[in-house]
Amino acid sequence: MTPHINAQTGDFAETVLMPGDPLRAKYIAETYLENVREVTNVRNVLGFTGEYKGKPLSVMAHGMGMPSISIYAHELINFYGVKQLIRVGSCGGVDEELKLRDLIVATSASTNSAMIRDRFAGYDYAAAPDFELLKACSEAAKELDLSPRFGNILSGDLFYGSNPALLPAMQKMGVLAVEMEAAALFAIAAEFRVKALCVLTVSDHLITAEETSSEERQTSFNQMMELALETAYA
Ligand code: HPA
Repeated sequence: MTPHINAQTGDFAETVLMPGDPLRAKYIAETYLENVREVTNVRNVLGFTGEYKGKPLSVMAHGMGMPSISIYAHELINFYGVKQLIRVGSCGGVDEELKLRDLIVATSASTNSAMIRDRFAGYDYAAAPDFELLKACSEAAKELDLSPRFGNILSGDLFYGSNPALLPAMQKMGVLAVEMEAAALFAIAAEFRVKALCVLTVSDHLITAEETSSEERQTSFNQMMELALETAYA
């Protein structure tokens, strides 16, 4: 047990899918996994382990923001032997060509957070996912006839009230979308030599100000889950 996870050693599979929301974790476990059991529930941040196509797989929520995902990712890696962490989440579109519900796979994550610099002697670390997972994801997307956008995203510290200069800077530098966790996840995975990936659906758009209905979100969520599950299974 750790301060934030009350599972026993061996309760987690080597691969963990991580949505932000605990009830999403429950939904994923109940919908896609077989022989599922709840393995942790501290603070209602639920985690489950089961099987996907006969292979062990876990799903656990990571909460919101980089401090939260940092705690869960650190403990999963260092106390439960987790080797692959795949975030499945939502993001705000920045690139004008993106439409709501589009899928994004992060090939790198910029950030306005000081957290990554903290790990890197004050310099700018290039937070990026694992290449093998990225390749598996690209192949899974082809198999599933999905066309995610691959590119740089930004993991922001503020959902409300970001520096107004940030949006034009992201547009200038070709950042596709903004979310709040990937850069921290990639940096932790790099430090402890495990694999990470982040798959996202566009839930709102910062330029067009469109928002998805809950029903639309569910459809695109299912596509993202199939992509993440097939990537994990590869
Ligand atoms: N900003 C940050 N995180 C998000 C957003 C956003 O607009 N949309 C979904 N996650």
